Amino acid sequence: MLLSGLASAAAATVVAIPGIGYLAAAACRKLKDQVDWVNLGPVDEFPENETRLKTFVNPLGQPWDGITANTGVYVRYLGRQSFEHQFQVFAINCTHLGCPVEWFPQSGLFMCPCHGGVYYANGDHASGPPPRGLYHCEWRVNSANQLEIQAPHLPTLQRTLRADQPVRG
Ligand code: FES
Repeated sequence: MLLSGLASAAAATVVAIPGIGYLAAAACRKLKDQVDWVNLGPVDEFPENETRLKTFVNPLGQPWDGITANTGVYVRYLGRQSFEHQFQVFAINCTHLGCPVEWFPQSGLFMCPCHGGVYYANGDHASGPPPRGLYHCEWRVNSANQLEIQAPHLPTLQRTLRADQPVRG
């Protein structure tokens, strides 16, 4: 009797585990598909035709990321076009090997300290080893007139930050 009870319990476990696995995988897929937006503050904080570094803790980070979860983007406000705010938001990572680039307003250039990559103010590649311009982030202005960006993963040539962005360009 005891043996048959144990056998039944074991059989129930064998049947239940794939079901639990399926449900857990579905929950993980749902989480993965959710988009995290990072609030960068009121639109008024971005002067027209100036580039500002905005730092934040990336919600895509893991607890073990430590200080590396602190990241940033460069925001350039282009003013309004047909009453709509227009921004360019660049990932901080150089498109060569990912070093953080620095903005130099005096020259109007982004420069990479690692191997001398240079980009124009609009993010286009100017010189050096980077194979393309800076990666652009998805952005939106919310109902409270605040700029939000889609939380950026580490961009690569194969996986940029915007669906409409060419792999090279
Ligand atoms: S990482 Fe920027 S030029 Fe190499």
